[in-house]
Amino acid sequence: PAPGWTTYADVIVIGSGVAGLTAALQARAAGSVLVVTKAVLDEGSTRWAQGGVAAALGEGDTPEQHMQDTLVAGAGLCDEDAVRVLVTEGPGAVRRLMSVGAEFDRDADGNILLTREGGHLRNRIVHAGGDATGAEISRALVQAVHEAGIEVIEHALVLDLLRDAEGRACGVTLHVMGEGARDGVGAVHGRAVVLAAGGMGQVFSSTTNPHVSTGDGVALALRAGAEVTDLEFVQFHPTVLWLGPGAEGQQPLVSEAVRGEGAHLVDADGVRFMTGRHPLAELAPRDIVAKGITRRMAETGTDHMYLDGRHFGAEMWAHRFPTILAACRANGIDPAHDLIPIAPAAHYASGGVRTDLAGRTSVPGLYACGEVACTGVQGANRLASNSLLEGLVFAERIAEDLARGLPEPGEPVAPEGDAWLLDPGIRTPLQRAMTAGAGVLRSRDSLRETMQVLAELGRRTGDDPCVESWEATNLHTVAGALAAAAYDREETRGCHWREDFPDADDKDWRGHVVTTMADGRL
Ligand code: SIN
Repeated sequence: PAPGWTTYADVIVIGSGVAGLTAALQARAAGSVLVVTKAVLDEGSTRWAQGGVAAALGEGDTPEQHMQDTLVAGAGLCDEDAVRVLVTEGPGAVRRLMSVGAEFDRDADGNILLTREGGHLRNRIVHAGGDATGAEISRALVQAVHEAGIEVIEHALVLDLLRDAEGRACGVTLHVMGEGARDGVGAVHGRAVVLAAGGMGQVFSSTTNPHVSTGDGVALALRAGAEVTDLEFVQFHPTVLWLGPGAEGQQPLVSEAVRGEGAHLVDADGVRFMTGRHPLAELAPRDIVAKGITRRMAETGTDHMYLDGRHFGAEMWAHRFPTILAACRANGIDPAHDLIPIAPAAHYASGGVRTDLAGRTSVPGLYACGEVACTGVQGANRLASNSLLEGLVFAERIAEDLARGLPEPGEPVAPEGDAWLLDPGIRTPLQRAMTAGAGVLRSRDSLRETMQVLAELGRRTGDDPCVESWEATNLHTVAGALAAAAYDREETRGCHWREDFPDADDKDWRGHVVTTMADGRL
């Protein structure tokens, strides 16, 4: 339906995780700011982050060493300039987050405690509340946004980007939930749009991402003609609590920091299977550990492995990992006495809307930061705890760019082409098809099968313009783009694992798959 109401802000921020709220707070220097978020302010992925934020803050650590670890994990596809920005501006961004009010864990002398995660050769992860880092960051930023009096619209799904006659971003349309299809649809006009709408974990059956992570930002950007890249690089977190065969939806994370503090991966016979597979064993980069687990599951004909942290003892579990302890207990597991059943699950989209170092996308006036963006820092496999950092650093850069001068777009013009929505009932079959054919292990045949299912599901149009239909449509758009990119990349690199092309191919594939709506396959 046509927008029933219109409002205005100079800068419209879509999303309220670490990237969106940091952008909103800093963009006040450029003009008026409005935050639009799909649920409530702290509902997105940030608040679920456990491990922490990586930054070269420890004695003897340097941005150069952080850069090296990031490049190794990224398996040849990181943009070195973007990584340099991330690691050199990272420590300052973390300190500024502390000045906003985030409290990180400290020792008895008041020094920030640093832990380790996969792929890091040093302890450089700051954490809060033991294993509740995202929740603390979210708390501090939400409070700061309230104190600053920034205008917020909650429970609003952003539908599409508005553009002027020159194709420049000049606002968004949105659907405020609970207000009905007609009254709920409105428009916000503005001079710049910052997309910080998070990830797309819900394209798979089992994920660490909350229900709201349905790829809305990437789908919006594609519809607006923006370039999207590296979608094939979906990171599967190696250790997600296994809740039985067929468990679907958001699953509890068991942070890498548990391995960083000395827990081991074992099979049902108690054998440590990561030793001998990589010099860092359980602390190898995440893609290598996820593959090691998947291989061992195939070798032993099982659907899960175990994490052994019994030697931590009850007190350390309670003190250092209270969130994970609670999730284990809720499922009848006492990690001080029991092995923790785990399996890999979809966790993070390394790809997204392509940006430059100032967070600008290929559509003038449209910026992107956080998981929705592809700044080039993650390459083929994100280094653990670099994502909150990326959100902070590049949100600040966007705000700086906006403060140098807001764009001056014209009036919105009506979009070309037919709008169509899909039946919300496609969500579960889509997730299952993606998990079966475009998940941890892929091949030409499996991807072709998935794309066939997606084509069939794409014919199930719906006529109810409700939020569930929009989400199903967005999931379908990003799933199609992801599967096509994974089909095209005929090699194995980082978290893209092709059974029919088991090696990296530096000659043909040390580049990026760029997707636009114009490529005809979506
Ligand atoms: C974790 O705590 O293992 C997740 C950290 C991350 O995804 O970077």
